[in-house]
Amino acid sequence: TDATLNATYEEVMDCAAFIKANYAGEMPKVALVLGSGLNQMADELTDAVRFPYHGLPNFPTPTVEGHSGVLHLGKLGGTPVAFLQGRVHGYEGQSEQKLAFATRVMWAIGIETLILTNAAGSLNPEAGPGNLMLITDHINNMGLNPLVGPNDDRFGPRFKDMTYCWDPKHNDTLRACAKGLDINLFEGVYVGMRGPNFETPAEIKMWQTLGGGAVGMSTIPEALAGHHCGLRICGISTMTNYGAGIMPEELNHEEVMEFGAIAAVNLAKLLTAFINKVG
Ligand code: 6GU
Repeated sequence: TDATLNATYEEVMDCAAFIKANYAGEMPKVALVLGSGLNQMADELTDAVRFPYHGLPNFPTPTVEGHSGVLHLGKLGGTPVAFLQGRVHGYEGQSEQKLAFATRVMWAIGIETLILTNAAGSLNPEAGPGNLMLITDHINNMGLNPLVGPNDDRFGPRFKDMTYCWDPKHNDTLRACAKGLDINLFEGVYVGMRGPNFETPAEIKMWQTLGGGAVGMSTIPEALAGHHCGLRICGISTMTNYGAGIMPEELNHEEVMEFGAIAAVNLAKLLTAFINKVG
């Protein structure tokens, strides 16, 4: 959590070695970042070992949320999995390199697939609060990028291609899982903003015009760091509200939490099926 943390190879490897030394279970191949409202999914793990972020070497801890975050390692319906409950956000003002740390540690312990979830504002009038959106691509308008700075080729290349950042095969599997469970899964482009304020109606109209499907304040840093080091990335946004100006009401954090909880029921079902298939 110190200000100089740069998510260097050595810092990442030290943390991964600590986790491996303190976990006797089978190392998972799949990790899931639990967005707002998905916390209760962590209770579904069996044989779980829980590592509070503040006890993990070099691990950045969120500064603005109620709790500092927990890494859960365990099994979901028999499949080994890692849950990251709590993430560092760009709007906190911590170094942008810190936004890569947790993702790189997942890579270093042997994770191959990283599932990203988030609460987002809908830009699609058809996809109202409580719905889910498969992230098929993103627009990074956060003004930050965790890959900035000296590149360590042991993670990945200096100039990373982004054509298949959002893994097409995993997306097909997620579509098939949703269909099998009779869950309506919208699709679209995730627009990342640094926040912490929500967008103005003019900004929302701009992102609609430019092809956005949902707008939020997370996820893209992890997708960049994960794609850079070769993880297969996929993601689902839970629509917690419409972007400003689509409806006359103002946005509020309570509404975000309320509709997040509704969407979380379907999201937990969908991701459980997906993890049992690919894990
Ligand atoms: Cl409308 N905007 C952003 N940036 N993040 C959100 C949101 C909106 N709704 C939930 N999270």
